[in-house]
Amino acid sequence: MSFILALDQGTTSSRALVFDHDGNVRGLAQKEFRQIFPEPGLVEHDAEEIWASQLGVAVEAVARAGLSAADIAAIGITNQRETTVVWDRRTGKPIHNAIVWQDRRTAAECDRIKGLGLEATFRAKTGLVLDPYFSGTKLAWLLDHLPGARARAEAGELAFGTIDSWLVWNLTGGERHLTDASNASRTLLFNIHEGNWDQELLQLLRIPPAILPEVVSSSQVYGETAARFFAARVPISGIAGDQQAALFGQLCDRPGMVKNTYGTGCFMLMQTGEHPVLSERNLLTTVACRLGNRTEYALEGSVFVAGAAVQWLRDGLGIIRSAEEVEALAASVPDSGGVYLVPAFAGLGAPHWDPYARGTLLGITRGTTAGHIARATLESIAFQTADLLEAMESDAATPLAELRVDGGATANNLLMQFQADLLGVPVVRPRVRETTALGAAYLAGLAIGYWQDRKELGQLWQAEKTFTPAADPARMAELRHNWSRAIERSKGWVQP
Ligand code: G3P
Repeated sequence: MSFILALDQGTTSSRALVFDHDGNVRGLAQKEFRQIFPEPGLVEHDAEEIWASQLGVAVEAVARAGLSAADIAAIGITNQRETTVVWDRRTGKPIHNAIVWQDRRTAAECDRIKGLGLEATFRAKTGLVLDPYFSGTKLAWLLDHLPGARARAEAGELAFGTIDSWLVWNLTGGERHLTDASNASRTLLFNIHEGNWDQELLQLLRIPPAILPEVVSSSQVYGETAARFFAARVPISGIAGDQQAALFGQLCDRPGMVKNTYGTGCFMLMQTGEHPVLSERNLLTTVACRLGNRTEYALEGSVFVAGAAVQWLRDGLGIIRSAEEVEALAASVPDSGGVYLVPAFAGLGAPHWDPYARGTLLGITRGTTAGHIARATLESIAFQTADLLEAMESDAATPLAELRVDGGATANNLLMQFQADLLGVPVVRPRVRETTALGAAYLAGLAIGYWQDRKELGQLWQAEKTFTPAADPARMAELRHNWSRAIERSKGWVQP
């Protein structure tokens, strides 16, 4: 028997999971790493700590499954997207901390480019909006602010990558510098229609082509792990950004199928097949995966803060000791008592795109308790999701049949029921909730014939629980109206 190892490098932790042929988790290890906040609005990671923690949990997960490296048929990689690393090709050392997707330092630069009337060009070619979220302006910032970096990049001495590239580079002992098309599509530099780096966009952002990784498919053998890491050399054969991996793992393979992942943020993706759909409602068009020469696309709604708001209740306010406690605290009150939290801690993503918005707590009275704030926090996750779904249904011009959900917060039944009530659509939780890692494992397994095709994978997907809408629609409409008012209050708080 052999197994697939998935490396799931997320925003707050590095995780590794071993899957068997039935898609069951046989071993799991996880390690949190440091979040670096040099100033309000700036978020960095130590790329070397990311690599060390990722390697550590990979070894540990295999051991916990009672296996050795020789039992692992292939490795799949999935990662927090957009986070930008630049390293020295000779030493393999990063020249700066990684700039994390949540980081807002390039907001003014995005405004400047918009002021030149270039947003439509970026949008048409990349499917993205001009927001500091994406890698392109972060990379430009590094080249502009680190002495000598631009000249070294032009001379081919430096390498840029998102976290997938960084992990592959390290796992292969510096032999491979590549990224898959789903990650490339998050950089603002990649033409999603032509499937390559776009010369015009590179010039506009002044990015030297010599720094870029090769763009490859999401499922093929890219190389093997270097001899020093595991007792056997293991092929690396699947890569996708974490949200695209979750779409794949949820088997959303027919146009119109939608998944929502509740992680640090909330990311809703609709499969649109081989046709990129350009949004009229401020959603993103993104590469879902590239399989051989076939590219599949998705419409995406990205919400920056979801589970991170619960972490804030724990670490910032100290009103819960663990994230799990939030459900009981929220259930201690029948409703939020008119309290609304807009967790725009890192600005607002889709469909608002306001890097200057900040978190807002409204409707507090003398009777407000920690329970109301906990409930408002959970509800904010569901409200943000509802805003995404509304935009998506409008873009797709068709109502949704069901929403497949995954990610840590889906364990929270109160949140899932409220979500179904608010959407008026069944919310379906699958048997295996580790869908992001599972998607990466599927991509890696398909490349080596461990699984034959998506039809075979489709037989492994099973619903565990369906949450059916049960609330009064008029009441839900009233709550959403108040939520919209709260969102408007959060916008434009920080002065550019
Ligand atoms: O685009 C950012 C996203 O990839 C982060 O995902 O799961 O680390 O919150 P996660």
